[in-house]
Amino acid sequence: MIYYSLSTLLLAGIREIVLISSPQALPQFKSLFGDGSNWGIKLSYIEKANPNGIAEALLLAENSIEGKPSVLMLGDNIFYGNALTQFLHQADRIEKGATVFSYRVSDPQSYGIVALDNQGKATSIEEKPKEPKSNLAVTGLYFYDEQALQIAKRVTPSARGELEITVVNQAYLEKGDLHVQTLYRGFAWFDAGTIDDLMGAADFVRQIEKRQGQKICCPEEICLNNGWITPANLEQKISKQKPSDYNKYVISVISDYMDKNQGHN
Ligand code: G1P
Repeated sequence: MIYYSLSTLLLAGIREIVLISSPQALPQFKSLFGDGSNWGIKLSYIEKANPNGIAEALLLAENSIEGKPSVLMLGDNIFYGNALTQFLHQADRIEKGATVFSYRVSDPQSYGIVALDNQGKATSIEEKPKEPKSNLAVTGLYFYDEQALQIAKRVTPSARGELEITVVNQAYLEKGDLHVQTLYRGFAWFDAGTIDDLMGAADFVRQIEKRQGQKICCPEEICLNNGWITPANLEQKISKQKPSDYNKYVISVISDYMDKNQGHN
C-alpha cells in the first residue's frame, strides 16, 4: 500500500520524503527502500509508537519542514485519474495557504467534509460531521505553505483524542487561505483504512492493471520518467533482485523508455 502514497508524492515531483510509521513497520520500510537513492530520492524515517492524530506528523517532521512548504500524505490513500499529475503540480505551484483535494462520497459522516460556495471557495470544513453540509470528503493529501508547522503546534486533542488535521485546515480556511481542488467523476480515490475498503481498492487496482497491463503506481516508472534515475541504474538494481511479476513489469518499463528515448541518450 505504501507504494501508492509514495507514487502520488513522486508524481507531484517531491523528492525529499519523511516516512512516519510504527516501530513494527518502520524496519520493514527501511529495508525495502533504504535511503531512497535507488529511486533518486531522499528518504528518512521517524518512528512513532502511539500515533496521536494526523496533525502530529507535522510536529514529528519539524526538522524537515520548519520554514518550508510541505506536503502531507496518508499511507492508506490511493488516487487514480488522468489529470492527477496536473492537479498535483497546480497545487504545488500555489505559494500561499493550503490545498486539499475533495471527492464526492456516499458516506460523508466517515470523513473530513468540506462545503463550497458557488465559486468553489470553502465555506466550512468539519471532521466526521453528524449532519454533513456536503458530500465532499477531504482526501488524505494536503499541500501546505511554511505556516503549517506553527498552526499544528496550536492544535489540541479532539473528543476522539486526536490532533485533527481538519483543525489545521480550518485555520487556513479562517484566514481565507484554503484552496480546494475537487476530483470529480473519472477519478478514483480510496481510503483503504478498513479491511472492507482495502479489499475494494485492491479489486479496483487488480481490474485496471489486468485489463491494461500497466501498473497504476510503479515508483520506479515514475522516477525514470521524472529523470531521477537512468535506465542503467534501474536495470542494475532489478538484476540483483529475485524474479517476480513486478520486476518483469519494471524491465518492460525500461525497454519502453529506451525505445521512446532512442537517440536522445
Ligand atoms: C482522516 C482524516 C479525515 C479524512 C480522511 C481521509 O480520517 O481525519 O479528515 O477525510 O483521513 O482518508 P481517519 O482516517 O482518521 O478516519
